[in-house]
Amino acid sequence: MSSLPAILSARIQSVAEVDPELRPATKPQFGHFQSNVALRLAKQEGKPPREVAQRIIDSLDVADLCEPPDLAGPGFINFRLKAETLAAAASEQLADPRIGLEQADQPQTVVIDYSAPNVAKQMHVGHLRSTIIGDTLNRVLSVLGHHVIPQNHIGDWGTQFGQLVEQILDEGIDAGTLDLESAAELYVRASAHFKQDQDFADRARKRVVALQAGDEETRTIWQQLIKISLPGFNATYQRMNIRLTDDDLAGESSYNDDLPKVVAELEANGTAVIDDGALCVFVEGFNAPMIIRKSDGGYGYATTDLAAIRRRVRELHADRIVYVVDMRQSAHFDQVFAVSRKVGYLPENVSAEHVAFGMVMGKDGKPFKTRDGKVATLKSLLDAAEEKAAPAVALAAIKYADLSSGLNKDYVFDVDRMVATTGNTGPYLQYAHARTHQVLRKAEAEGIAVPDKITVLDEPAEQQLALLLPRFAEIVNEVADTLQPHRLCGYLHDVAVAYSTFYEQCPVLKSEGEVRGSRLALCLATQRVLAKGLDLLGIEAPDRM
Ligand code: ARG
Repeated sequence: MSSLPAILSARIQSVAEVDPELRPATKPQFGHFQSNVALRLAKQEGKPPREVAQRIIDSLDVADLCEPPDLAGPGFINFRLKAETLAAAASEQLADPRIGLEQADQPQTVVIDYSAPNVAKQMHVGHLRSTIIGDTLNRVLSVLGHHVIPQNHIGDWGTQFGQLVEQILDEGIDAGTLDLESAAELYVRASAHFKQDQDFADRARKRVVALQAGDEETRTIWQQLIKISLPGFNATYQRMNIRLTDDDLAGESSYNDDLPKVVAELEANGTAVIDDGALCVFVEGFNAPMIIRKSDGGYGYATTDLAAIRRRVRELHADRIVYVVDMRQSAHFDQVFAVSRKVGYLPENVSAEHVAFGMVMGKDGKPFKTRDGKVATLKSLLDAAEEKAAPAVALAAIKYADLSSGLNKDYVFDVDRMVATTGNTGPYLQYAHARTHQVLRKAEAEGIAVPDKITVLDEPAEQQLALLLPRFAEIVNEVADTLQPHRLCGYLHDVAVAYSTFYEQCPVLKSEGEVRGSRLALCLATQRVLAKGLDLLGIEAPDRM
């Protein structure tokens, strides 16, 4: 089912032969939509705009949808949908258990790489954004029938483990007794030690080699570090109501055995060459080649990502691979994608997209820090929000603040603004949703049944709401295509605002007969759109607040 604006737009286009660029009317007295297509065409044709507008109006066939279109001002065309058209669309949505959401024509296998915290380190605000955005994309693509495979590419490998293991041995600690917090502290001590003590640094480097070679003692301690980190990650996912489990883990180390195969394949097909002792792939448009294998035989972060693409295409059969990682890694992913295409790991028909997001800033415009000046951990953010609001509301506040700002922008972590029940906030949407429930509850208590159709839409506020609600599916599809959750946030906020205007201007339970029934049905439709929309954002929608 296409939405009403889409149908109307197509009709106008068939006459005007260009996109009418329908815009919502600026005032209710102008109807519902406006097009300036005549002004644009008039310029090209060298004719008076009002004449062109009149010609379009005369040849338009929209009588089944709209009142007769109006010619306004210098040549705008205003459209007012018929109340019965609006009522039919809103009723159709209400009758649909999926409130208009369709299954994708061509369901895809979509790998989403998100969260990806690092072992023996606390999750920080960057991981917060990745986790929240990735979770929403997972929910949105899944509800449309795509097969989503989350991949939690945790940082469980690399040179830092040489330092960590060596520090543990130095301090004589039993790694099995650490928890994520104490491991993170150990990490700090190990890095400092590495910088200050040449002898320790040498031992740490040897320790990395031992880890890669499979030395038993080293591997055991490394395993323990992973084992103690996972419950910490999982606790955070649970606290945040995030759909990630141990089944979704595919850490860097899981690609170790694939790395020599990557090397062999790239050498065999001639895409990688030795340069200065390192095995490299050169791709046009990049300053430096990608180093596949360093001159000392070691592998880096990029090679692992190459192996990950290889597995995601060959074994997971991805049609689309999505990376939710902060924008400082944009150059890295550009190169990983270009190299993957060149070496044949990423065929033409598989897309790879980096959903790059900005940083979380403090009110002072600098990267967000805790009160004592430390880099903010994810936990500290959650705690800060929970100081101001109940957990479900605090979480809604954080998630919504994160999702509603454009991805490429840094966003300011301002707890007081985020938890407010007014403005463009998560709690405001939750509150609007709870208010729909309140009306429906009262109706039930008074024994008033909610009809299954919306039939009367005389008031502008009713019409605005009925116009917005059936657009839900179109917006969700848009998020699936563009991977921009803020569009859904903006839409839901519009719905909440329209509901609140409706609630002020159109008495529900105090009205009577068919009007009351139709308004109750509109409340129910709003409740369902808000609940489902919030669910797709990973935000709880309580019945009462
Ligand atoms: N662990 C990395 C970090 O904390 C993010 C990994 C992102 N995913 C990937 N496939 N490289 O920065």
